[in-house]
Amino acid sequence: MKKISEEITARVALAFEKAGYDKDLAKVKVSDRPDLCEYQCNGAMAGAKVYRKAPIMIAEDVVAILTGDSMFSQVEAVKPGFINLTLHPDFVARYMNEMKSDQKLGVEKSKSPKKVMIDYGGPNVAKPLHVGHLRSAIIGESIKRILRFMGHKVIGDIHLGDWGYQMGLIITELQKRQPELPYFQEEFEGEYPETPPFTIGELEEIYPTASAYAKEHEEYREEALRATYLLQNGHRGYRAIWRHIMAVSVADLKKNYKNLNVEFDLWKGEADVQPYIPDMVQRLKEEGYAHLDKGALVVDVKEEADTKEIPPCMILKSDGAALYDTTDLATLVEREEKIRPDEVIYVVDKRQELHFVQVFRCAKKTGIVRPEVELKFLGFGTMNGKDGKPFKTREGGVMRLERLLSEIEEEMHQKIKENREVSQEEAGKIARIVGLAAIKYGDLSNQASKDYVFDVDRFTSFEGNTGPYILYTIVRIKSILNKYVTSENQNAEPIILPPVSPIEKELMLTAGKFNEVIETACEEAAPHKICAFIYDLANVFNRFYHETKILSESDEARKASYIALLGITRGVLEVCIDLLGFEAPDRM
Ligand code: ARG
Repeated sequence: MKKISEEITARVALAFEKAGYDKDLAKVKVSDRPDLCEYQCNGAMAGAKVYRKAPIMIAEDVVAILTGDSMFSQVEAVKPGFINLTLHPDFVARYMNEMKSDQKLGVEKSKSPKKVMIDYGGPNVAKPLHVGHLRSAIIGESIKRILRFMGHKVIGDIHLGDWGYQMGLIITELQKRQPELPYFQEEFEGEYPETPPFTIGELEEIYPTASAYAKEHEEYREEALRATYLLQNGHRGYRAIWRHIMAVSVADLKKNYKNLNVEFDLWKGEADVQPYIPDMVQRLKEEGYAHLDKGALVVDVKEEADTKEIPPCMILKSDGAALYDTTDLATLVEREEKIRPDEVIYVVDKRQELHFVQVFRCAKKTGIVRPEVELKFLGFGTMNGKDGKPFKTREGGVMRLERLLSEIEEEMHQKIKENREVSQEEAGKIARIVGLAAIKYGDLSNQASKDYVFDVDRFTSFEGNTGPYILYTIVRIKSILNKYVTSENQNAEPIILPPVSPIEKELMLTAGKFNEVIETACEEAAPHKICAFIYDLANVFNRFYHETKILSESDEARKASYIALLGITRGVLEVCIDLLGFEAPDRM
């Protein structure tokens, strides 16, 4: 479906043309002054120079033609040259009826669908999932859903950090504790055990212990580094331990992400791309891109226009080890070979921006990716506590994701039980759904690149710009719809009638912006625009609800029309929260 603003623009363009002006001046947008009109066109102002005329004269010429047009109930030229437009109720009702019968509620799929890879989540295997990884998962998941809804082919890849020093630490600590295990017997040639030598609980304890110990003990640290090196160079026993760590840890990650309603298409990681590194390095050397700098192999990526120094991309350390840059480049080699995406979006902490500038430039310069591939870095800000510092537990430790989720759930549980009588089981289920919405909405309603304060009290409130408020509104609509369905006299295919009150019209016009909002949110990879929109829609709906007798309306056709409008509102809200990555309960 055409957007409302497009339909109006087309009509106003005809008027500009008829009045003898360039039709490209006719761009119409939502009014900046909703107290005066619903839409506005500022084209007369832009036309003033071209036609050497006062803008108000141009505006008046256009208005003269538009007056009486069935699309508008009021058209006005206002000094210095605005054209103020108020839509005719019939037009608004027609638009709503079209929206009602459209499968995607008026959203049109992209005319040039792309193949997009999203690299998000990025947890480090065997290290606890903490709130820093939460943002990547939440934002990436939403962007994935938005792009998909607009008709793009999207492949989400978790890109595990599974090849680093943490693995060496775990191997070293395990050897210290259980030196008798076959993995550590150099002469062992048999099959290694199938069951891992640790549970997830143990693994979660081993890593922090080893990490802390290594900081204090140089020898231990060196041993861990050596274990990392051996692992990366194919040590048979260490590889077997690595596979155990992966199996145990990935199973746990899958559970965690499932609880977050986050789903990856690919569970690939840094380890998977190691086989691509030797050939890639060889080529970079042969083709003269890479050179030695103090023993390290680097590719220069600075450009003339740089205002600050961009250091070279590091390909190999002086000891021949691969680095973070190397792995990300090799990952692009694999993605080009296996997927050939049109675009790759990285949803990563904005403090890693420089790394991605280097990697992107290097990948383009050396032809690792085709010139037309778009590489996008979507850096997000830090999630802070109320003290303005990175979010911590009450005791000041790193906040684990699971703990954060359970604390929020607990908070919601209390609130739900205060509000109404519910069974323990139902309260638990609702708390989980609403708690997740509180976290996700709290995060997504901020522009991703900004730091924000994670405020449990505010995020879990049922009032204000929060996830629970949005859900509460949806639940309210569902409950009215359910009551109507169970009443007898209902219309099979209700028609939406022209609005009779200003608030009803406002509700229609607000819901009618759905397609425009989604398109913008997709173009700008900006879920916060969807949040702002549904907050506005929920507010308008709640005003409508308070000012309108819906179920007690005696005119059946009007009642059915209200119900259909509620259906659209609910549909729009539900699609939006699905694009944000959460859902609404039936009651709360
Ligand atoms: N594992 C990394 C970290 O925790 C994030 C990975 C981001 N993605 C990437 N392709 N580098 O910092």
